[in-house]
Formats: sequence, C-alpha cells, structure tokens
Amino acid sequence: MVDGARPRVFVARVIPEEGLEAVRAVCDMDLWEDELPPPRDELLRRVAGCDGVLTLLTDHVDDEFLDAAGPGLRVVSNFAVGFDNIDVAACARRGIPVGNTPGVLTETTADLAWALLMAAARRIPEGDRYVRAGKWKTWGPMLLLGPDVHGATIGIVGFGRIGQAVARRARGFELSVLFTSPRDVAFPGAARVPLEELLERSDFVSLHVPLTRETEGLLSRERIARLKPGAIVVNTARGPVVDDAALAEALSTGRVAAAGLDVFPDEPRVPAAYLALENVVLTPHLGSGTRETRAAMARRVLEEVVRVARGEPPRYPVP
Ligand code: NAP
Ligand code: GLV
Repeated sequence: MVDGARPRVFVARVIPEEGLEAVRAVCDMDLWEDELPPPRDELLRRVAGCDGVLTLLTDHVDDEFLDAAGPGLRVVSNFAVGFDNIDVAACARRGIPVGNTPGVLTETTADLAWALLMAAARRIPEGDRYVRAGKWKTWGPMLLLGPDVHGATIGIVGFGRIGQAVARRARGFELSVLFTSPRDVAFPGAARVPLEELLERSDFVSLHVPLTRETEGLLSRERIARLKPGAIVVNTARGPVVDDAALAEALSTGRVAAAGLDVFPDEPRVPAAYLALENVVLTPHLGSGTRETRAAMARRVLEEVVRVARGEPPRYPVP
C-alpha cells in the first residue's frame, strides 16, 4: 500500500451491513455480491494486490491464494470461528495474521445443537411431514415415540466454548453431562471421561471439536459401533469428523436411533444415504445463523480487517 492510500480489501460475500460500513469508511472495498462463493480463478484474481481479505469457510486460503494476493497482504479475516479452510502455517510463514470469530457465535450455535437434539429425539420433522402428508388419523398411544431428553446422559465431544454452552443447556434439562477434552475443564456437574467411555454411556452425543488432523474421522465406524444402542448423534462441528457411511448404516438399522446434522464433508452436497432416512434431521450449516449473531460476526471480522490493514496488530489472531 502506498503511504496515505486507503487499504484495499476484498470481501468474499455479502455479509451484514453492520461490518461493511466500517470497511467502506476507511478502505477501498471490493465486495463479491453473488450468493455463491467466487469461483477459484475469480477469487485469486480479486485478491491480487489486497491489503486485507475477508474469507468465508467456503474459500480455501493456501499458498496459491497467498501468492495470488501478493506481498502486500496483511490480514486474512475469516467469517467463522472454525478456520480449517485456512492454511494457518502458510499464512504464518509469510507473517500474515489470521482472524476468526470466537465467542460471538457460541450461544447461537449451542442453541442450534440443542434444537437438533430436541428435533431428532422428539421426531419433530417427522411429525411435521406426517401431519402435512395427511397421515394423522387420531391421537396415537404408539405414534412417533422418541426417548426422554430430560434425565438422560449427554456426551459432549470437545468441551470448549460451544461444548460448554451445550452443557449449560443440558443442565437446564436435568441431563447428566460427560465430556472429552484434551485438558480438564472445571464445570460443576460434568465429568471428563475417555472418549470410548463417553460413547458407551451417552444417550446423546454432541460433537464440538474443531476439524484438525486429529479429529478428522473421530466418530469412526469402530466408535459408532461402541455407541449405546439407541443413541442420538448431533454434529454441528464439521462434516469430516464423522464417518458418514458408517453413521448412515447405523441409522438405517436403528442401532443409532436418530441424528441431527448441520455440517457435511462436501457442502452443499449431503450424502444420499442421509436423504433417504426419516430419522435424520438435516440443516444447511445454520449453526451461527441468527440475525444478531451474523451481525456481530460481521462487525468482528471487518473491525479486524480494518485494524490490520491500517497497520495495527490483530485483536483476535488464531493460535
Ligand atoms: P473451541 O472453544 O476451540 O472448542 C473446541 C474444543 O475442542 C477445545 O476445547 C479443544 O481443546 C477441543 N478438542 C480439540 N481436539 C479434541 C479432541 N481430539 N478430542 C476432544 N476435544 C478436542 O471452539 P468452539 O468455538 O467451541 O467451536 C468448535 C467448532 O465448532 C469450530 O471449530 C467449528 O468447526 C464448529 N462450529 C460450527 C458452527 C456451525 O455453524 N455449525 C458454528 C460455530 C462453530 P483444546 O482447546 O485443549 O485444544
Ligand atoms: C461455522 O461453521 C463456524 O465455524 O463459525
């Protein structure tokens, strides 16, 4: 950037205006206005010469991207708390900080995980389809029964911000809480146990780990086989954490009673086996999808872009 010039910032999708205002005020902003992500070649073309870029989890930031952006790039700010779409080491090698949105979406994402848990357990989408299809004849003592949620045991895999927020909701519903975590976490009424024990003891298993080399395939075929019969699985973390083929098989036999899934390995494609199953509740990666939270995320990422593009240190760098 030439001294005194306004920083150039590429924003890879329309996000709430709350954040864009700040960028427009102090930067030359190039906004990708399509609903779909920029195609790769267009993305690489548009980031060339930028001081800052605001990416989404659909944009892959790697050496090719950083080469295309050029040596003036000073910050990559990701409109998500997960940053598995970014090669953070490649950014670090070039001294480019990466920002994300920790904290501002915690409660909202936990709300969605809880909604999926309730919907899967109490068969709400199935009930809705049943009513709309005109199948409802009378109050049925055996109609669409599910398990009790209150009083059950939930196993939370990944006990960070969102995992703990789910545990707070579980406490309100009087569930027992088990969790796995690389470190112990003081949380009254919750017990840290090894993953295998958690799988064997939990009526509900909710995934809240980041996607890393260690967590890819964490809920593997072997581990799905260890789930308590009739367990319910909720995934609002990342698709590749679960072996989809194995989970779909377990759902089709009823070994796993139901699942609530917000994330998939190759979004927006959803494995066909899930689409064919009544006992799976599917949402299109809606974890942080409330007006208030998306606005807060927009403010957070764009503040960060503006700060760093102006030469100030990042406030929320990813570790
Ligand atoms: P966080 O606070 O960093 O929590 C993640 C936790 O997982 C940390 O406590 C981490 O422990 C733990 N962990 C890492 N590897 C583990 C393993 N192998 N086994 C057990 N625990 C492990 O992150 P967060 O804000 O809760 O977000 C979690 C993830 O949710 C994000 O990375 C993102 O992928 C996903 N997410 C999805 C949506 C959505 O729209 N569906 C929205 C928001 C977030 P250490 O800290 O000790 O490593
Ligand atoms: C959404 O998936 C996020 O990581 O914020």
